[in-house]
Amino acid sequence: MISNGHRRFKVALACVGLSLAWAVPLSANSASADSASDDAAIQARADALLKQMTPEEKAAQLTQYFYLQPIPAANKPALEALRTTGLGSLLFVTDPAEVNRLQRIAVEQSRLKIPLLFGFDVIHGLRTIFPVPIGMAASWDPALVEATQAVAAKEARAVGVHWTFAPNVDIARDPRWGRIVETAGEDPYLTSAMARAQVHGFQGPRLGAPGHVIAGPKHFAGYGASLGGRDWDEVELSDSDLWNVHLPPFQAAINAGAGAMMAAYMHLNGVPAAANRNLLTTILRDKLGFKGFIGSDSGSVNKLVTQNLTRDTQDAAARAIAAGLDIEMVDPGKLAAMSKLPAAMAAGQVPQARVDEAVGRILKAKLRMGLFERPYIDEKAVEKTLNDPAHRRLARIAAERSAVLLRNENGVLPFDKRRIKSLAVIGPMAASAKDTLGPWVFEQNGASAVTVLAGLQQKLGKKVRISYSEGVRMPARMFPSPSATADKVPERPPLDETTEIARAAALARDADAAVVVVGEAMNMISEGGSRSSFTLPGRQQELLDAVVATGKPVVVVIFSARPLHLGETRAQAILDAWYPGSEGGTAIANLLFGDAVPAGKLPFSWTRSPAHAPNYYAQLISHKPNPVNGRYWNETSAPTYPFGYGLSYSTFEYTNLRLQQPSVPKSALVVLNVDLKNLGDRTADEVPQLYIHQRFGTSARPARELKGFQRVTLKPGETRSLRFVLSPDDLRYWSSATNGWVNNASAFDVWVGGNSEATLHGIFELTG
Ligand code: BGC
Repeated sequence: MISNGHRRFKVALACVGLSLAWAVPLSANSASADSASDDAAIQARADALLKQMTPEEKAAQLTQYFYLQPIPAANKPALEALRTTGLGSLLFVTDPAEVNRLQRIAVEQSRLKIPLLFGFDVIHGLRTIFPVPIGMAASWDPALVEATQAVAAKEARAVGVHWTFAPNVDIARDPRWGRIVETAGEDPYLTSAMARAQVHGFQGPRLGAPGHVIAGPKHFAGYGASLGGRDWDEVELSDSDLWNVHLPPFQAAINAGAGAMMAAYMHLNGVPAAANRNLLTTILRDKLGFKGFIGSDSGSVNKLVTQNLTRDTQDAAARAIAAGLDIEMVDPGKLAAMSKLPAAMAAGQVPQARVDEAVGRILKAKLRMGLFERPYIDEKAVEKTLNDPAHRRLARIAAERSAVLLRNENGVLPFDKRRIKSLAVIGPMAASAKDTLGPWVFEQNGASAVTVLAGLQQKLGKKVRISYSEGVRMPARMFPSPSATADKVPERPPLDETTEIARAAALARDADAAVVVVGEAMNMISEGGSRSSFTLPGRQQELLDAVVATGKPVVVVIFSARPLHLGETRAQAILDAWYPGSEGGTAIANLLFGDAVPAGKLPFSWTRSPAHAPNYYAQLISHKPNPVNGRYWNETSAPTYPFGYGLSYSTFEYTNLRLQQPSVPKSALVVLNVDLKNLGDRTADEVPQLYIHQRFGTSARPARELKGFQRVTLKPGETRSLRFVLSPDDLRYWSSATNGWVNNASAFDVWVGGNSEATLHGIFELTG
């Protein structure tokens, strides 16, 4: 279902058939669809402007500068030129008054009065912060994801942002790679669903819809496959990997109408993405049909010299444009390579038509966003939009629906409200707002978080005695993160960790149960956040062991975005809350006490150790088919938890898989039904997942591949018949034997169940 066409926004919200109660009303979305005459009018206006432009004005439109205070001296002249030549775009301005001031300079002082496009990393919210994208993927709930990104867009647009550098649709099969946190994990089908939902959420019913922003999927392409999971290192991908695994989510984002695209910065098969013509033109434009504009990642045009592709920055500007890039994001403190574009044009290094095409795309985006008519924002309306209580409600629901229950021995969860009279809340993340919010949250936007401690206090009031110990401190990174603000920690008196661990254990001993919040700090993940170990950083394991040794019921709440090794902890329950966002603590309190029921499922295989990475579920079956035991002689290579795994407070039974027809022509639809029963005594959600395996064909296909899922709510004892449909698009794949797409006549296994190890099985045949 990857190649679905554009859907209307409201339909997208409704189609999942779930409670829409949490969908925030988006009254601004009533604008009508694009029309061919709009396109023609916009093209004509862009052409008219282009005719008047000097080479310097064109180069300026193809440039995007960071706007960070204090402005580096090297950037001052370029920013001054805003008054004369104008400028394509600025990023990182989110102060509404400053947005208007800068826009006024562009619109009222520059020669051609072309407005600025403001870009920003709106990854999981602006003021209201939702769970990080890997957490949102764990909800397996595209309608929810769409609703959260629509709120993020609304808040962003209110402060003056027009273009978000999101969604990150890279496939993350190696959890050592820190940017897994921004992705939907290891699977192309799930990532495609999330890509589509996010683009619809950000952009609304059409590009330029009020209250929405341009979506810029990234990083095109293959960035998630960096060698050894080391951020920024080169990527080597076969065509088969590219087409079957890494490109489908981009195709989904393009089909959903994404207006922009960010080219990656690493080498792909030896050619840096920013000047990779095969990637940016042959694949992205000609084969995937992308119509919007392509931006570079930060500094990646200048870095074509560093990466040994071009002789100098003039050559870099020329080759990036020739390859198909449209706008350069310049690293802070650097001069744009595009400032050399006029010289490159004069020297005949770059075709004039290609420059004009790039400038035309930027102008059309500005026209489409209505910036010529409405360049300014209403500064007085901003705070009301950012503080809309409906946004916080959605953040709570998103955090509840994304959490994954990994272990729940003897039904320790949900806590029995009548029995728990005292609770020890422990751990370095339990009262940390910053870690509750997660990475890609910027101080200037005023985000705040309900921590786990605060959430439990608010929920339980005076009825339960709550004690708290930080336990241990998060250690500093050996190498600082690229964003200095992420590493900034408030001045605090030193902590004697040995004493504090003992105190934490004493608090647990004195309580009816303990909640221990551990994981990786928010600055230990994301860009520059790759890691070669999955243990708990610092002395957290020691803390956890000491609390567990008290013999009291212990629930571990994890803040993380990659599998963590918990040292075979004997804690009775483990809840992965990701970095749950503004209402994280409220949501976790609801989950722990049964006012919300967990139903999140892992969007990656919980790889046992970094030495096993990558170890995704969709591998080929080798000539020694036992997939897990004996691959390493010293231990199993099975993941600790499989892809798609997650528990509930209820249990479910899958029965009666029936194929409408066991044999169909390969051009037809495969339809099947499965019965799902809620065996428990509470209403709960489950995420039935459909996996296939093609037994023979032009190429060998993975042991299992996800090809369908739904998130459904079932009442106690309720049985529901679920329908799944597989189209030829779902069953095609790219074969290196033919260098193209194939649909084979073959025999297929199909499984439906609650994770990638589902056992309910059927077989169907596709005939020629
Ligand atoms: C990241 C991008 C991001 C950009 C702007 C780069 O370093 O790779 O994903 O959008 O910075 O913040």
